[in-house]
Amino acid sequence: MRVLVAHASPHGSTASIARRIGARIGRGGAVADVRAAEGVGPLVGYDAVVIGSAIHGGAWLPAAAALAARCAIELPGRPLWLFSVSSVGDTSSVFGPRITQRMRRLRREPKQVTAWRAALPVVGHRNFAGVVQPTDWGRVGDLFIRLLRGRYGDHRDWADVDAWADGIAAAAHAGAADAAMVSAPPVNR
Ligand SMILES: Cc1cc2nc3c(=O)[nH]c(=O)nc-3n(C[C@H](O)[C@H](O)[C@H](O)COP(=O)(O)O)c2cc1C
Repeated sequence: MRVLVAHASPHGSTASIARRIGARIGRGGAVADVRAAEGVGPLVGYDAVVIGSAIHGGAWLPAAAALAARCAIELPGRPLWLFSVSSVGDTSSVFGPRITQRMRRLRREPKQVTAWRAALPVVGHRNFAGVVQPTDWGRVGDLFIRLLRGRYGDHRDWADVDAWADGIAAAAHAGAADAAMVSAPPVNR
């Protein structure tokens, strides 16, 4: 079982989460290749794909989006897991509890992800908070964070990343078992 874990990560936190996901999938017995989305070669040979993108302006980055589009053509039917890394994850956040709760309620899934759900076998999409530094996001981001009293720093929730990755590892393992049963010769009785 080979799983591609690809990332688009200008400042490195999406890449670090991808590496962690790859390590957990590897512990589950599958082979995980962790790569930058723009450097991924032919997809043939992968049984499942995980793609993560940093969120800029509420959207996925072009390299990650382009890779998801390639999956539809090069790996039709293969399961796909997606994750987005931004200031507000599903379990941790740059902002305090009240603002975070409101932002989660108002947040829409990146529109690319919604579109892929119709075209690709997307099994899951998870939001993780990343590392947000004052120099990364520019003046608009800085204003946004200050106005909403956010805290710069490392907001990755490794327990959440591990739990999500373990779910993928279990599904990949089950998929491999199913494939082995389909390809096994019939038993003569
Ligand atoms: C140009 C730019 C735009 C961003 N836009 C958003 C955004 O719309 N929403 C958000 O929550 N975070 C936004 N962020 C914060 C990043 O998503 C966050 O810092 C993330 O951890 C970056 O991942 P990376 O370290 O892999 O680059 C933005 C950051 C940058 C640099």
